[in-house]
Amino acid sequence: SNLYETILAEIVDDGRVGIITINRPEVLNALSTQVMDELADVLQELDADPRVKAIILTGSGKKAFAAGADIKEMRDQEFVTAYLGRLLSGYERATSECRTPIIAAVNGYALGGGCELAMMCDIILAGENAVFGQPETNLGVIPGMGGTQRLIRAVGKSRAMEMILSGAHFIDAEEAVSRGLASRVITGGPEKLIEAAIDLAKQIARLSGPVVAMAKEAVNSANDLGLSEGVKKENLFFSACFGLYDQKEGMSAFLEKRKARFENR
Ligand code: HXC
Repeated sequence: SNLYETILAEIVDDGRVGIITINRPEVLNALSTQVMDELADVLQELDADPRVKAIILTGSGKKAFAAGADIKEMRDQEFVTAYLGRLLSGYERATSECRTPIIAAVNGYALGGGCELAMMCDIILAGENAVFGQPETNLGVIPGMGGTQRLIRAVGKSRAMEMILSGAHFIDAEEAVSRGLASRVITGGPEKLIEAAIDLAKQIARLSGPVVAMAKEAVNSANDLGLSEGVKKENLFFSACFGLYDQKEGMSAFLEKRKARFENR
């Protein structure tokens, strides 16, 4: 439904792919509390819709995915309102508990909270003009939506420290891919970027929903669990796959040299 004011939500590919667009191009899609609340709501709504098998998150306009948390809104916050009000910190669950894969299509600036939001997604596709950075220290704060934890995992300690401590030395699309922060650079402008994201989403969407969800949860476990615990969790999910109709269908289809028809069960 589109009761949202700061985001656009649409569904394509016969209901299988959701596209969420942060829609405040006049402020480079700055992430106000309203944006983040609406984002959390729409993610929950799409994740609860059994038809939706993949979600794309992008920013409107040609310049930005999101240029950070909304500085205008943040300026007058105090410690108590930020801490007890959980300023911009309640959104971990919206992305990590979302079982549907989320693809970030990053066109232009992904700075501060924008970079952090992109890193909360499962896959980042970078437009050729993508710029990733954590400039918070310039404003007298530190990253507050997971940047100190996720950037180090994505680009390593030295590069993450350089970016976060200096508030400068941003990462372009090519470097993002070479370091593993993004999976691919998509050239040809924002339309091509969205096309590529939809293609990827459609590829995921034709697979078994529960299998993809278990794969996502298993991969994400690598951030929280040690190797042997993570491998155990993987093995449990792997074993669980054999309880699915879709496993029988997938393997039968291969052996019968036909296309699998997954039923999400
Ligand atoms: C509010 C913002 C904004 C932001 C841009 N705008 N970023 N408003 N919050 N994060 C507004 C500008 O004020 C301006 O409004 C309009 O968007 C266009 O931006 P310009 O600066 O004129 O564009 P340009 O010169 O092209 O520069 C682009 C830019 C710059 C380099 C991305 O906008 C910039 O540095 N933005 C701030 C980046 C940043 O520091 N992000 C981190 C925020 S802190 P007007 O009204 O003048 O047209 C953060 C904390 C996360 O994210 C932790 C959360 C808990």
